[in-house]
Amino acid sequence: MTAIRAYAAAKLNLYLHVLGRREDGYHLLDSLVAFASAHDLVEVESTPYFSLQLHGPHSLPLLMEDTESNLVTKAVFRLAEALGRKPHVTVKLTKNLPLASGIGGGSADAAATLRALCALWDVPLDHPAVTELAAKLGADVPVCVGSRTSYFAGTGTELSPAPDLPEDCWVVLVNPGVSMPTPAVFGAREGAFSEPARLTTSFTDVRELAALLKDGRRNDLTAPAVRLSPVITQVLAALDSTAGCLLSRMSGSGATCFGLYVDFDHAVAAAELIGGIRPGWWVQPAALLNDLSGLELLEGVTLL
Ligand code: C5P
Repeated sequence: MTAIRAYAAAKLNLYLHVLGRREDGYHLLDSLVAFASAHDLVEVESTPYFSLQLHGPHSLPLLMEDTESNLVTKAVFRLAEALGRKPHVTVKLTKNLPLASGIGGGSADAAATLRALCALWDVPLDHPAVTELAAKLGADVPVCVGSRTSYFAGTGTELSPAPDLPEDCWVVLVNPGVSMPTPAVFGAREGAFSEPARLTTSFTDVRELAALLKDGRRNDLTAPAVRLSPVITQVLAALDSTAGCLLSRMSGSGATCFGLYVDFDHAVAAAELIGGIRPGWWVQPAALLNDLSGLELLEGVTLL
């Protein structure tokens, strides 16, 4: 039997407003979520037992602090249980994305595991057991199951389609090698809550998109994240200093930041420049995707 592979694309919060806090401590958000071509890879295959194999440049920390691989394991066991099946699969997780870095990592891996298992076990992705489990696995898992540009409301279960991003949207992802504890970042947030800021006007190119994202929209978790890890300011400054950068912003609870670029050439040049100056940082040029269908085509391009 052949293995089924599912891409776990990096999630980017193009803006993220914190609107309030529930009694259970979870925060209510308004965010425009997009996905980038940088990705982890999940491959599943039926075997007479369960096993998880870890590969890739960021797999080593998983062996020590295995919260993200745990999410994959949890996804397998809990889905099997909900469907009354045995969790007899081998999952191969190729970890290219840095851990605990604001771009979905573990959530995208868990979501890709659910997609791959649904394909392997012939279960529709909108099966109630899958939807329910996705929300339980983590706040970002439901949006990663869909992996398409979406508005994200509430704590992540209220998703709605967002307008397609322009065709040619290039970003550079930069992580300074610090992992951020999401609860601590939310906990360090101070001051008044924000208003929702969904885009009401359309955009045709990346310059318009950048202008709209700058217009009263931000990531409300940037200030608390910077207080915990001041190096994030340097990451944003590094992106801002490169030619063709239209916008720089932190994603999620950090520390990964992204720059949005006028075109592919400027994104690649910026990535080379920042990577050259800061060899210890993870620097990755990537395309923004409206859904994952473009990923296989992009695989042929040297970027990935
Ligand atoms: O759901 P997930 O495991 O990703 O959330 C990790 C932690 O981040 C939560 O326990 C909570 O402290 C914080 N969080 C939050 N509001 C959200 C999402 C996460 O306060 N909407």
